[in-house]
Amino acid sequence: MAISGLVRVMERAARKAGTRLRRDFGEVEHLQVSRKGPADFVSKADRAAEQTIYEELRAARPDWGFLMEEGGVVEGDASKPRWIIDPLDGTTNFLHGIPHFAISIAVQEPALDGSGWGDVIAGLVYQPMTDESFWAEKTRGAWLQDRRLRVSARRNLEDAVVATGIPFLGYGDMGEWTRIYHEIGMRVAGIRRFGAASLDLAWVAAGRYDGFWESNLKPWDTAAGCLLVREAGGFVSDYRGRSQPICDATVLAANDAMHSKLHKLVATAIKA
Ligand code: IPD
Ligand code: CA
Ligand code: CA
Repeated sequence: MAISGLVRVMERAARKAGTRLRRDFGEVEHLQVSRKGPADFVSKADRAAEQTIYEELRAARPDWGFLMEEGGVVEGDASKPRWIIDPLDGTTNFLHGIPHFAISIAVQEPALDGSGWGDVIAGLVYQPMTDESFWAEKTRGAWLQDRRLRVSARRNLEDAVVATGIPFLGYGDMGEWTRIYHEIGMRVAGIRRFGAASLDLAWVAAGRYDGFWESNLKPWDTAAGCLLVREAGGFVSDYRGRSQPICDATVLAANDAMHSKLHKLVATAIKA
């Protein structure tokens, strides 16, 4: 499959910001042991990565708008798509010198009836430390570099490795997460919490994880990853089983067979 001009633009922006993040990550490893710690440095690295991505994308598509985690909304031509950007997903990992973080870029088109925003038509999740570029375009499949991605074929819960995000720092509903964990945790081969939602979704698309659930996510965490899962043949819904275009508030993603099993467990948990 020939990589489209749009994906090339996204990839170029992500790689440019990723090179800088990789360098900054090396610095964080030194700052770990300093008294001041790396927090300020990391928030600067985060903003610098977003600025690099913004400038690259703006130059390539001058009239498109933006929804960015750090910079918020920048309006563009309302008849054109907009970019949705998380310049550093997995900040806590980055801050702690844990090499598991990503850049997430998605493209969302305007709603067909002209009211707000519609489908996500392209998405890219780039992991600077492994140089892996997961990308998808609507109806053109999901890819890791030039290799087509498929969600896993596992059908049995007891074989499944399922990723999640655990509420932290007072965000999210710990009671709900615990009830879901209680239903799923004892029935699967393993649960993972690696700390970067965009990569959790990309890894479901790549068949590494068999499923993923998390609540309280934001569009920039999920827009690219949800398209990746769908284009890899998987299913993404909220906890009630409804499919959402960006899938931000609550996310349950898996292959079809596993999704219906996990959804039953989640439904039991949220009723309890
Ligand atoms: C966070 C990560 C994490 C998830 C959080 C997100 P950030 O994004 O994706 O895995 O559990 O809900 O906020 O803050 O590192 O960009
Ligand atoms: Ca994020
Ligand atoms: Ca972020």
